[in-house]
Amino acid sequence: MVLEGKKILLGVTGGIAAYKAVEIASRLRKKGAEVHVVMTREAARFVTPLTFREITGQPVSLDMWEEPAHWNVEHIALARMADVCLIAPATANIIAKAAAGIADDMLTTTLLAVKAPIFFAPAMNSAMYENPVTQENMAKLQARGWHKIEPATGHLACGGSGVGRLPEPADIVREMEETQARGKTLAGKKVLVTAGGTLEAIDPVRFIGNRSSGKMGYAVAQEAAQRGAEVVLVAGGTVALADPPGIRVLHTESALAMREAVLQEAADAAVVIKAAAVADYRPKERAKQKIKKNDAELTLVLEKNPDILMELGARKRETQILVGFAAETQNLLAYAQEKLKKKNLDLIVANDVTCPDAGFNTETNLVKIIGRDGSIKELPLLSKQKVAKTILDAIESLQK
Ligand code: PMT
Repeated sequence: MVLEGKKILLGVTGGIAAYKAVEIASRLRKKGAEVHVVMTREAARFVTPLTFREITGQPVSLDMWEEPAHWNVEHIALARMADVCLIAPATANIIAKAAAGIADDMLTTTLLAVKAPIFFAPAMNSAMYENPVTQENMAKLQARGWHKIEPATGHLACGGSGVGRLPEPADIVREMEETQARGKTLAGKKVLVTAGGTLEAIDPVRFIGNRSSGKMGYAVAQEAAQRGAEVVLVAGGTVALADPPGIRVLHTESALAMREAVLQEAADAAVVIKAAAVADYRPKERAKQKIKKNDAELTLVLEKNPDILMELGARKRETQILVGFAAETQNLLAYAQEKLKKKNLDLIVANDVTCPDAGFNTETNLVKIIGRDGSIKELPLLSKQKVAKTILDAIESLQK
């Protein structure tokens, strides 16, 4: 029902899966949506605009320079009209262009002006999908609040098998519906999230740090923002991600600086989620000048950093929900459960960082979500966005 009466802008780009967009358009119509298709020239080589016109009952936009049927400035009118936008299939090319802000055809120009939620369903050969540049481009779009519909794994048009298949049209429409239906469930709530690793200075140019990219915490922050929360994101010094729109980002470097920002913001936060990898120790002395090399060994004396999460647990209000992470290489459950108790948490996300595609600086993660009531939700290897969704679902069910 959530799509009924909605005006949906369906962007179709030039991949073999373009034929599946016909079924997507048809399913959206059956849900009562009004579907307006914008195709790239390449997409029109796979499926004709006429097919979409017949299925949607609406004119199809393809060419910036055609005499407009009834719009004033067509791409702006299309962008303004959209309640929701879906790009399916989304090729590596459209993802790269959108990430770079390129506007050189009807679809890319329209996308730049869209203010409505944008879903995109990548579909391509698995090597293209896994290429770091495509991964970076997708991460950029997600950082701007675009919803990625994860590709399926299986037989690919190029003959091989792997990740990159466009999911079934029914699954794409269901994901759009579920996301739209979830609505603004955290409206009016302040959610504080920490992300990334802290940097502990040795001298003006050197530091002790860790490999946390901030991707997990950013995914959590974006999911909370999509659910309507007022989100404050405290990022550590290792983070090199773009600030997501609509989220107040406080950039810090060391554990001490992160502590200051977190304690200040936590006072009125309804939910605090600590995905940051905070250094447990810092160099006792910070050399004023760059330390010069000589033949002797160098000994660094480290002193303990405050445990920010422990402090938050000690001052937690009754209505506040406190969620920690535990990155472990052994005894995952036992160590995580111990931290949950010791730090007075409501939930802990036990993160197995021994799996090659999980933990630090990966796109995916492998976690178990443990509640203070002893419940354990074990998740398979998922994108960090999907892990973030599950964490927020768990938080919301605690609030009920
Ligand atoms: O940023 P990514 O590249 O996406 O990687 C994500 C991640 C692996 C960093 C993330 O998923 C994760 O597991 N974060 C927690 C990492 C960690 O430092 O775990 P820990 O077990 O050392 O700490 C337990 C909890 O106490 C964490 O919530 C941590 O934020 C907090 N802590 C720890 C030490 C300290 N001095 N102060 C703290 O607040």
